[in-house]
Amino acid sequence: MFRVENLWFSYAEEDVLRGINLNLERGDRVVLLGGNGCGKSTLLKILDGLIFPKKGRVFWKGKELRPGKIKNFEGEFRRSVVLLFQDVEVMLFNPTVRDEISFGLRQMRIKDIDERVEKWGEKLGISNLFERSPAELSIGEKKKVALASILALEPEVLLLDEPLSNLDPRSTGEILDLLWEYPATTVVATQNLSLAPELGERAILLSEDHRKIYEGDFKELLSDRELLLRANLLHIHRHRHGRVIHRHFHPHDWE
Ligand SMILES: Nc1ncnc2c1ncn2[C@@H]1O[C@H](COP(=O)(O)OP(=O)(O)O)[C@@H](O)[C@H]1O
Ligand SMILES: [Mg+2]
Repeated sequence: MFRVENLWFSYAEEDVLRGINLNLERGDRVVLLGGNGCGKSTLLKILDGLIFPKKGRVFWKGKELRPGKIKNFEGEFRRSVVLLFQDVEVMLFNPTVRDEISFGLRQMRIKDIDERVEKWGEKLGISNLFERSPAELSIGEKKKVALASILALEPEVLLLDEPLSNLDPRSTGEILDLLWEYPATTVVATQNLSLAPELGERAILLSEDHRKIYEGDFKELLSDRELLLRANLLHIHRHRHGRVIHRHFHPHDWE
């Protein structure tokens, strides 16, 4: 589905992705881990064809994602690959939730728009919000509207940037179930170590110096404290057990 070869990227002088290689087969569920600023969101935007490598190459189904070239297959690509932005507010600009979910469907000239809006509104539990303005919703509700708007396209590839942040426990569980049910190739960025294994089968870890430092199953990664510390995914702080205060490691439990 995707092949990334020796990808380098920088916004200004400093490289924010360094020599990344990656293969994604259809049906793969990959979790992209790393601390703040290691390049997770940037990598997802590159896979979504929004920005392009400075060096190296990215292929989707054998077609190279390059400025200019992507125009030749952009319709097909945009139907197949969707991105939930970390900052979902940038995805919401329609007057009502219903318009928001149907917008992409209209753009893609999909026929059964009303059915899909009903179906995905229901699956995300937001049917009661259809006539509301997305701008006035809580951040968790906005996240569900943004998710509904991309899932309604019924894409083959889901790129999700911290999809569980700002969701309450019940919504977190519901979204996790929904994502497992949905048969897509997925890449999920998160810094939430405790939920990461629920989001996919394969872990990819980016280091603070923007390199891929691990790819494989979660078990091995989670037992490698040194690697997790190096990637800034564990923190150490004082901790109280009854009357005893001591210091030990904790995973980042937020996104
Ligand atoms: N639009 C931008 N312009 C300049 N620098 C950026 C931009 N977006 C991200 N960066 C920088 O690139 C690095 C990687 O950012 P990002 O991909 O958002 O990391 P992550 O998602 O892992 O937190 C950070 O140092 C960030 O400050
Ligand atoms: Mg990010």
